[in-house]
Amino acid sequence: MGKDVIIACDFPNAGETLKFLEKLGAERPYVKIGMELFYGEGPEIVKTLKERGHKIFLDLKLHDIPNTVGRAMKVLDGLDVDMCNLHAAGAKAMMEAARENFRGTLIGVTQLTSTTEEVMREEILINRSLTEVVTEYGRNCLCTGLNGVVCSPLEAGMIHEACGDDFLTVTPGVRLAGDAAGDQRRVTTPAKARELGSDYIVVGRSITAAEDPLAAYRKCREEFVG
Ligand code: C5P
Repeated sequence: MGKDVIIACDFPNAGETLKFLEKLGAERPYVKIGMELFYGEGPEIVKTLKERGHKIFLDLKLHDIPNTVGRAMKVLDGLDVDMCNLHAAGAKAMMEAARENFRGTLIGVTQLTSTTEEVMREEILINRSLTEVVTEYGRNCLCTGLNGVVCSPLEAGMIHEACGDDFLTVTPGVRLAGDAAGDQRRVTTPAKARELGSDYIVVGRSITAAEDPLAAYRKCREEFVG
């Protein structure tokens, strides 16, 4: 599986998304559609971007009872997206139901990269180390047939160690050197993410908020893919 840079299109509507993508010229990057854009525009935005030649990661982070998630995944499967995800905290029966209904690349969210261990222990009430939680969730994803996890690049190595080299690590929390971290708590550069063994990096603001998004995208690719 080739490494790639996925651009997080965290825009409120199709108009702004297309305006942004036009700045990338002839490039047709892998894009991530998140809650904001999908809830605002619905499945039509998936269709529009697919028709323009983009691969799609639909980042809706499902988490509900197995029956509900299974049925929702069947709908997402019908949209023919390349990748989608769910919360590993939803547990194995939910992940199995999702896997049965979605044929594309299915990945589990371990802990959001905005979460610190302190917050996880005191507010999410999981009184274990972040490392332990991320690897255990990774194993649960692997044994329920998922293709990989969303995790911090800093966790990519231990995930591969626990779950194998073919198990994908899709890693947000990436910033070009010098860019603001914003709300992310654990960030690395694309070059560092490559060194750490990430398979895909998800980059939002370092590209979308850049003065020259095309140059920022190319820089991410150059550092990460080579
Ligand atoms: O702008 P930035 O590069 O921080 O965007 C990161 C993207 O990755 C956002 O769309 C965010 O929702 C997503 N994400 C994340 N951490 C996760 C899973 C997804 O930051 N664990």
